[in-house]
Amino acid sequence: MADHIIAIDQGTTSSRAIIFDRKGAIVATGQKEHEQIFPRPGWVEHDPNEIWRNVQEVIGLALSRADLTRHDIAAIGITNQRETAVVWDRATGRPVYNAIVWQDTRTQSIVDRLAADGGVDRFKPVVGLPLATYFSGTKVAWILENVDGAREKAEAGELAFGTTDTWVLWNLTGGIDGGVHVTDVTNASRTLFMDLETLEWRDDILAAFDVPRSLLPEIRSSSEVYGTAEDSSLLRETPIAGILGDQQAATFGQAAFHAGESKNTYGTGNFLIFQTGEEIIRSKNGLLTTVGYKLGEGPTHYALEGSIAVTGSLIQWLRDQLGIIRSAPEVEELAARVDDNGGVYFVPAFSGLFAPYWRPDARGAIVGLTRFVNKGHIARAALEAVAFQTRDVLDAVNADAGVDLAELKVDGGMVANDTLMQFQADVLGVPVVRPVVAETTALGAAYAAGLAVGFWSNLDELAANWQEDERWEPTLEEAERDRQLRLWRKAVAKSMDWVD
Ligand code: G3P
Repeated sequence: MADHIIAIDQGTTSSRAIIFDRKGAIVATGQKEHEQIFPRPGWVEHDPNEIWRNVQEVIGLALSRADLTRHDIAAIGITNQRETAVVWDRATGRPVYNAIVWQDTRTQSIVDRLAADGGVDRFKPVVGLPLATYFSGTKVAWILENVDGAREKAEAGELAFGTTDTWVLWNLTGGIDGGVHVTDVTNASRTLFMDLETLEWRDDILAAFDVPRSLLPEIRSSSEVYGTAEDSSLLRETPIAGILGDQQAATFGQAAFHAGESKNTYGTGNFLIFQTGEEIIRSKNGLLTTVGYKLGEGPTHYALEGSIAVTGSLIQWLRDQLGIIRSAPEVEELAARVDDNGGVYFVPAFSGLFAPYWRPDARGAIVGLTRFVNKGHIARAALEAVAFQTRDVLDAVNADAGVDLAELKVDGGMVANDTLMQFQADVLGVPVVRPVVAETTALGAAYAAGLAVGFWSNLDELAANWQEDERWEPTLEEAERDRQLRLWRKAVAKSMDWVD
């Protein structure tokens, strides 16, 4: 009997396949990192072919580790890094350019050009997002403008665009032999092209970006059968029945389904999502309005989101670019060698600053250096930056919601870091709570797929799976917290002052 669901999590640094049982417990995982390509300052690319190869490989790894075959899998869910854009040739299946990653800032000139007529909030009333390099629509426009022959082919209907959910789905369902070209409402809500109310592509916005509609995938709900895996796949004939952008998936996996419920994920970046139910709330404090989820024919659930570009990737930077740690978990040990940050504040504005500032021109800053400072202080300041940035976003959520969040549900790789979680609770002044299954991103995609095929019957059943694992209570004196926040904000101001 098919007693399991498999989720494919196509993330920024790696692709994973995770097999879950009916209780939402992890049975087996396959994971593979892909190359981060940095052709120029501010540019970040992935090779879509490498991603697709890795996805196939991790499916095989997960199945063999669980000692299961496709007959044991009831459905496939897909979740993904959201704004990373791939454009490929429908006839050959070949990408016309590398995937342009959500962190990439090369599209600033496109943003400036569009904002010249109406400002960065020009489309915000319709799409919920400001014009920013972050969103996938700017990246498609760049490919059409800069890749030889792409515009002509696009006009002729020969190209397809997708975020990585769509790229994986198209390949998994047969590619050039009838691949399904579809995305879900959550990913579509990150393009700058989708009307939040009608859930349809907007022709006027596409015209402003000069992107032909024929490139775009069909927008579907987050939980329905989109197609089945093709014959040569290890998952042959298994239905693909759920797609959620990774942050919405994590929210779903945290069983934060209803208005007022939220989560914060510590991944490459940090993303705090606050569900607002069927109501579209327009942020006055620098948050994004986005789609939370839509199950089949059910109502659309919206959310507010605070996106932080650089958190986990800051630790990778300490490892790969600065070389002060050999592996990411070592950061905690290094930070523990010092009593405090030694007066150092680190604003990791590597892709400008996202929420709540939206300052593309901001650049990373390490301030407060003295001869006393050692790499332990830098490590500590890096961890603290993750927590401070989250505090800035939480303040915006509280202001928009009109009530203060009583506690913060967390997930993602960095929540294993006890020093960080304690500091997070201290800096927020509210408890931080981690569930037993911290792999909520994959779990959320599995839930969406399982609901569509009747593997799970309703949201209550899923909510009953959620269990608390650990809780960190704030212990820092208020006066000390305020002092540190004041210094942090001075450092942020410095990073925004750094214009060439
Ligand atoms: O918006 C970007 C986000 O979807 C990427 O998430 O987990 O791959 O860092 P992650």
